Amino acid sequence: CRWRSSLPQLDSADRSDEESGGEIDWDNLGFGLTPTDYMYVMRCSLEDGVFSRGELSRYGNIELSPSSGVINYGQGLFEGLKAYRTANQQGYMLFRPEENARRMQHGAERMCMPSPSVEQFVHAVKQTVLANRRWVPPQGKGALYIRPLLIGSGPILGLAPAPEYMFLIYAAPVGTYFKEGLAPINLVVEDSLHRAMPGGTGGVKTITNYAPVLKAQMDAKSKGFTDVLYLDAVHKTYLEEASSCNLFIVKDGVVATPATVGTILPGITRKSVIELARDRGYQVEERLVSIDDLIGADEVFCTGTAVVVAPVSSVTYQGHRYEFRTGQDTLSQTLHTTLTSIQMGLAEDKKGWTVAI
Ligand code: COI
Repeated sequence: CRWRSSLPQLDSADRSDEESGGEIDWDNLGFGLTPTDYMYVMRCSLEDGVFSRGELSRYGNIELSPSSGVINYGQGLFEGLKAYRTANQQGYMLFRPEENARRMQHGAERMCMPSPSVEQFVHAVKQTVLANRRWVPPQGKGALYIRPLLIGSGPILGLAPAPEYMFLIYAAPVGTYFKEGLAPINLVVEDSLHRAMPGGTGGVKTITNYAPVLKAQMDAKSKGFTDVLYLDAVHKTYLEEASSCNLFIVKDGVVATPATVGTILPGITRKSVIELARDRGYQVEERLVSIDDLIGADEVFCTGTAVVVAPVSSVTYQGHRYEFRTGQDTLSQTLHTTLTSIQMGLAEDKKGWTVAI
């Protein structure tokens, strides 16, 4: 691979297990943070508007001004994508990384930030994976989760775009996102706290979309639920998404998911799952999905990069628990297998979605 030539040398301490993750327990990864070896950093000033050459450096703390735009005003975006080890364990596969690059560009526009080009973004992701290759789990055990960040790093006191920006990528090996593993999850509908509002930033992956849901998420977890489903802020009737993933329902063989009208994150897994379901002959509607639609559904599932395709066994709304089909012969199970087989190189990628490194 042509990117390999510019990789930094691993320190002698790392060389003994250069191709493995040392002591890591691949069977119990979960979604905790395991620090890896390298991160990728690229900088840009608002005046230039163009990111210069980036480079890999040792993974570690970064220095930021106390008055940086990201710390003071939340001027920041993040992305998430995964690298899988191929079946022969020799190579690595990315899934639609240029989609993440374009989503970051779109979000940067909304947040008044310059953004890397698609080529710069994908190059940086590849460099980060190769530099941390010993942390990519063996096939079937998980993936290397890649976290690109774009932040207003320069100092600013009055409310305005920061004068400097940092694009940074770090990575960590992960297994399943929810503590349930691949087992079905239990959700609760939140009807007083909202994730997004019309005209806001729900449709872009700004860092400021995530901390505001922590309160609802913590309350739900304390009551034994896996995660929270949010309702629209205007009518309090239509489902939007969960804290970390998009929502799908299936009724009488027809699939529906909330339309991405500005308050809903345009998930790359969401987009891929819509295409895969249509390929299998399903009608997929992107529309308003009401609480009544949800309650009456045969099957419910969530999608996201971290979550992949997670079956939902119950949703609790205003104290009533509604149950759905899970397990054998469900659409979510079929889509999970189809998607992950493509992502890991086990099934032919007829769509050109995967990028080999
Ligand atoms: C992802 O699925 O990659 C996300 O960014 C969601 C995050 C809350 C883990």
